[in-house]
Amino acid sequence: MAPVLEARDVSKHFTVRSAVGSTSVVRAVEDATVALEPGEIVALVGESGSGKTTLARLLARFYEPTTGEIRLDGAPANGATRAYHRDVQLIFQDPFGSLNPLHRVRYNLERALRLHHGVRDKAERNRRVEELLERVSLTPVEQFIDKFPHELSGGQRQRVVIARALAVEPKVLLGDEPISMLDVSIRLEMLNLLNRLRTEDGLALLYITHDIASARYLCDRIVVMYAGRMVEGGPKEDVIANPRHPYTRLLIESSPDPARAVDDRAELFGAEAGELGEPPSLIDPPAGCRFHPRCPFAMDVCRTEAPPRTEFPNGQWTHCWLHEDEGEG
Ligand SMILES: Nc1ncnc2c1ncn2[C@@H]1O[C@H](COP(=O)(O)OP(=O)(O)O)[C@@H](O)[C@H]1O
Ligand code: SF4
Ligand SMILES: [Mg+2]
Repeated sequence: MAPVLEARDVSKHFTVRSAVGSTSVVRAVEDATVALEPGEIVALVGESGSGKTTLARLLARFYEPTTGEIRLDGAPANGATRAYHRDVQLIFQDPFGSLNPLHRVRYNLERALRLHHGVRDKAERNRRVEELLERVSLTPVEQFIDKFPHELSGGQRQRVVIARALAVEPKVLLGDEPISMLDVSIRLEMLNLLNRLRTEDGLALLYITHDIASARYLCDRIVVMYAGRMVEGGPKEDVIANPRHPYTRLLIESSPDPARAVDDRAELFGAEAGELGEPPSLIDPPAGCRFHPRCPFAMDVCRTEAPPRTEFPNGQWTHCWLHEDEGEG
């Protein structure tokens, strides 16, 4: 199937100015390539600071790539237009961020319908708002429709955010850690809701997380990022059962129990980060393979040259010098 949304060799460098006026460049995302097909859930996994949010913002066209290209339906996407956001919706980690706190749930949803679909008829808008609330299981709808965002629980608020994204009828949802601020007890429910939307609407979903266990539960394919670069990807079961990149292996081994859908050790990777060591600064990232200072297998070449991509017959791929002579070339 043709991808609906694609990033091709996308990089994003931020120029930052220090208090004394000197400038430096943060290499937040480097040569990232990812494609989403309709009805597919791809998990983007990586520790905090690995460039996940930056990539999501590039895909949503809130940032212009420094180099590389974003493609929607096979054509280069230009600018963050309303038409673009009719197809590609980004859900933030913090549900407060995307709702207008001064307005009730009804207004927040109606506004999306008006803006993107020009639904002017009041009765029709009301019907659509009720339908949206039902779809995200905020029922009975009368209990929620006239509430203000602050009158809802975190989970209810994130459901409203999802309903708002659905009001636009997008082809792609980019979920930037959409469950990480929610209570552990409702995370699984939210994952099931996202899964249902993919099945019912054929939505493509990029599920961004630092938690490989929830990625495993939800996604079809996994892409692993480390320090701004993609290091490995492929079908979920293959990547989990047979990780090729030492960093992926480390992530899986340090996850207390990857078989469990949603771990109650809330910040799975956060809690483990100390043991994993610190990810490097992206102002002056390590040369060659960015993982080499932490890698038990590092060789001379790893310190100077970025590893090429090796593809395996099962659809798995990695950037690691250990696999240079394997795969399909
Ligand atoms: N607007 C920005 N200006 C400068 N640096 C940024 C900006 N946004 C992100 N960064 C830096 O880019 C790197 C990746 O950040 P981010 O994409 O937020 O990672 P993640 O979502 O994986 O935690 C971090 O080092 C972060 O400090
Ligand atoms: S390229 Fe080298 S340093 Fe990087 S993960 Fe592979 S073996 Fe380790
Ligand atoms: Mg982030």
